[in-house]
Formats: sequence, C-alpha cells, structure tokens
Amino acid sequence: MPRRTLRPLAVTLISIALLGAVAAFAATTGPSKGNAAAGKAIFMVKCIVCHKADGTGGIKLTGNPTPNWKDPKVWNDPKRATDDYFRDCITNGKAPSGMVAWGKTGQIKPPDIENLIAHIHTLGGPMKGGAPAAKAAPAAAPAKTAPTKK
Ligand code: HEC
Repeated sequence: MPRRTLRPLAVTLISIALLGAVAAFAATTGPSKGNAAAGKAIFMVKCIVCHKADGTGGIKLTGNPTPNWKDPKVWNDPKRATDDYFRDCITNGKAPSGMVAWGKTGQIKPPDIENLIAHIHTLGGPMKGGAPAAKAAPAAAPAKTAPTKK
C-alpha cells in the first residue's frame, strides 16, 4: 500500500481505539468486575457506620434506612439489587436518605466504586453478578418473569 493511503488509515484506527476507551470509561454498566478485597478496605473505613460491617444495615437517618444486604427480599428486588443501581447510588448518592454521593463529589474514584460493588456481593447471600439467584426466590411470591441466565 502507498504511504498516502496508509496514513489516514492509521489515523482512523487510532481515533476509533481512543473513542472506544473513552466510552468504556464513561459508561460502566452491567456486572462489576471489581476486586472485593480492595473494596472491603474502603468499606471498613467509609461505609460501616451506616451499612454495618456485615452489610445488614437498618440504620435510619432522615429517609429510607440502609438496606439489609443479607435479606433475600433485598437481593430479589429487581429495581435495587443490580450493579447498575449500586453504581448509581454510590456515584450520585441518595440525598433524602443521607447516602453520600461518593463518586460525584470525587471522594471515591470509579475503579474503587467497582471494587466496593464486588465487596457488597460478598456480604449479600444469594445474589452474584447482578442477577438474583433462582433458589433464593421466596416460594410464596414467585417472580413475574423468569430470571434470565447469563
Ligand atoms: C451516612 C450514612 C451512609 C454512609 C456513610 C454510606 N451509606 Fe450507602 N446508603 C445509606 C442510606 C441511608 C441508603 C439507602 C438509600 C435509599 O434507599 O434511599 C444507602 C444506600 C446504599 C446503596 C444502595 C443499595 C440498596 O440496596 O438500596 C449502596 C450500594 C450503598 N449505599 C453503598 C455505600 C457505600 C459503598 C458506602 C461507602 C463508600 C456507603 N454506602 C456509605 C447511607 C450511607
């Protein structure tokens, strides 16, 4: 290939690679790939006052109490027990309830938010990776839609 053709091609390829990296950084969604041990180190300092070391929560400040992450009802609530919800909550907080906007205020960086989510998974019993485990569903209240396996 002549040089004239190669150069724009290289520029295009580099641009695509850069755009991809930016998009991946800006919009982390889906199951966390964080490191639970690194998350635990932060959790034990910044989160236990309200969420308790074992994640059972139940501390009420001004609005909703902190959730009990060991309760299967919490894990099976499709609105709250997903990594996307955790990520949003840790990033933007829940001001009316007193949950701090750790990410938005710059106190916790995105990779550490992923690590914290991974640690929360080790606290909560049955849920792993953002999808409720079928065996944890209470027999009295069957889910409307079957859980999708990944
Ligand atoms: C000052 C008390 C306080 C501290 C400190 C705190 N949280 Fe929270 N957090 C809350 C409250 C209250 C809620 C419930 C918010 C609601 O449902 O309105 C909450 C909710 C959450 C949720 C949403 C979970 C769910 O099932 O609703 C996550 C995830 C979370 N906190 C993570 C953290 C992490 C990680 C830290 C430490 C970096 C932390 N929190 C520190 C008070 C706190």
